[in-house]
Amino acid sequence: MSILFINACVRENSRTLVLAKNILSNMSGEVIEVNLNQEDILPLNRELLEKREKLISDEDMNDTMFCYANQFAQADEIVIAAPFWDLSFPAILKTYIEQITVSGITFEYINGRPCGLCKAKSLTYVTTSGGPIFADFGYEYIKALAKNFYGISQTKAYRAMNLDVNMIAVEDVLIKADISVVE
Ligand SMILES: Cc1cc2nc3c(=O)[nH]c(=O)nc-3n(C[C@H](O)[C@H](O)[C@H](O)COP(=O)(O)O)c2cc1C
Repeated sequence: MSILFINACVRENSRTLVLAKNILSNMSGEVIEVNLNQEDILPLNRELLEKREKLISDEDMNDTMFCYANQFAQADEIVIAAPFWDLSFPAILKTYIEQITVSGITFEYINGRPCGLCKAKSLTYVTTSGGPIFADFGYEYIKALAKNFYGISQTKAYRAMNLDVNMIAVEDVLIKADISVVE
């Protein structure tokens, strides 16, 4: 079993990362981490998009441009950790999503509808927020992609809210934070 851990935590003392590592420690399988702060992923600009479209039309799906998409498609399980920023998540995660959402690798269109090509059956999303989460565009977006594009049917989110309101320090997250699970 391989667990692909997508680490989109930005701060050095990330409480989201502490929570995610605790959840990972209770899962069985080899954890392969992609730390998005250390990857050189650019948003799809015109040049990159044209390159990508040419590769797709040539069916050249093993180009290095598709390394993240191929890795994501082949993982047995997915865990994403991302702090709650501006009602969703940091932009580095969106740039990663642009890299992995590739027709012919993580999904394909059949009769105009996306069908998943990913091996993983489950995706776990981990987030923490400073205040209340009254609209979770982060998890809802990831969930919609997982179910409608990637073909990952089971998704759940671990969320710890109000960490800034309650002044919960990184070393106290697992002891003091109120962690809820939503599907
Ligand atoms: C750029 C930025 C945007 C944020 N936006 C929100 C927000 O919309 N709602 C909220 O409750 N907290 C927000 N926060 C607070 C973080 O969600 C909170 O501090 C979280 O626990 C950070 O996770 P970390 O410790 O893993 O970095 C924001 C923090 C930053 C730095």
